[in-house]
Amino acid sequence: MVARPRTNTTTHFFREERALEMIRDQKARRVWCVGCSTGDEAYSLAMLCLEAAAPVEITATDVNVEALHVAKRAEYPFRNLRHVEPERKARWFKGLQVVDALRNCVRFAHHDIITDVAPAGGFDVILCRHVMVYFTPQEIQRALATIIPALRPGGLLVLAASEWLGTELRAQTPECSWLELTEVGGVIAYQRISPPRTLVQEARVIPVQPVATPALPPKRPPTAPRAELAADRLRREGDTLLDRGAVGLALFQYELALREDSLRPELYLRSALCQLHLGVPDRAREELRRCLFLDPELWPAWIMLGDLLEHVDPERSRGCFERAITLLEGPSPVCEGAFFGSPRVALEATRRHLRSLQEGNATP
Ligand SMILES: C[S@@+](CC[C@H](N)C(=O)[O-])C[C@H]1O[C@@H](n2cnc3c(N)ncnc32)[C@H](O)[C@@H]1O
Repeated sequence: MVARPRTNTTTHFFREERALEMIRDQKARRVWCVGCSTGDEAYSLAMLCLEAAAPVEITATDVNVEALHVAKRAEYPFRNLRHVEPERKARWFKGLQVVDALRNCVRFAHHDIITDVAPAGGFDVILCRHVMVYFTPQEIQRALATIIPALRPGGLLVLAASEWLGTELRAQTPECSWLELTEVGGVIAYQRISPPRTLVQEARVIPVQPVATPALPPKRPPTAPRAELAADRLRREGDTLLDRGAVGLALFQYELALREDSLRPELYLRSALCQLHLGVPDRAREELRRCLFLDPELWPAWIMLGDLLEHVDPERSRGCFERAITLLEGPSPVCEGAFFGSPRVALEATRRHLRSLQEGNATP
């Protein structure tokens, strides 16, 4: 196979539409779209399902952060819409931007199918089209070891029409023995036939909540005990994912937790950390402001804000560090877990950093 650039994000709406129609006809409820690029494929599927009144939750992931930004903005050049019929364009687009009803069906996250753990198993369908074609055989094996356990028994793995899993590759990838080549509605797919999960394989799958249904639960009053419990559970799951480096998926969990309880400063703090990791400092700053509005005593937020402002507004940045130091010197500074370090270590580090800033600024 000729090596092709992995950065290729070429896609368009209704690419190889037959497979998308098959997924709609199967009434697949939970779909994972791996290597979703700018989201055209995920939105096309959402369109078909909504038109058929078939509710669907699509988790769409990609390793390319810029492509994900486009996906979330959901505004496309004409050429990507060339296969969208005029009636559909009128119904599902406002100008060149996808309407909210459709956007609400899809949740996008940063995820590397070769190195990251999978979202929880139980997907009815996993779409992975025109992605593995760029991988080495070893990378394909690793991707499959992540993808296959995430399918529910009976679930379908759908590749592009031109892609298939070669005999040699299947022989060398233990998880492939769980798959059977099948034909559904004129589309070739791989069906998970059995659940022979070993503990080791199971361990690759972290339980996360279903993401983004067409009707995400409305925000509940933060005082409701159920909302509190759900938010706690989602926060814990987010922390586990963050700990394992699955930043995009962790962000999902925190966003879901915030839907349950939007007055949790620690969730905004974690969300800000994820946004920083994902290279979206403006969003991180917004989240930190919300966090500090709700709890001005959360010193990690002051430190992060200080870092973010350091080159933009040095004076305010120093103010943030000073505020963090005051809180850390207090009788019982909050402890927000491993991601933010212990208060004692943070105090020393922030003092040192502030000193170096002041010395740096004092130097002509
Ligand atoms: C050609 S696009 C395919 C888009 C869409 N699936 C389609 O069929 O139209 C390939 C996508 O795979 C993504 N990709 C490449 N390596 C990846 C990885 N390790 N994990 C997740 N996505 C990856 C690329 O960023 C790119 O957006």
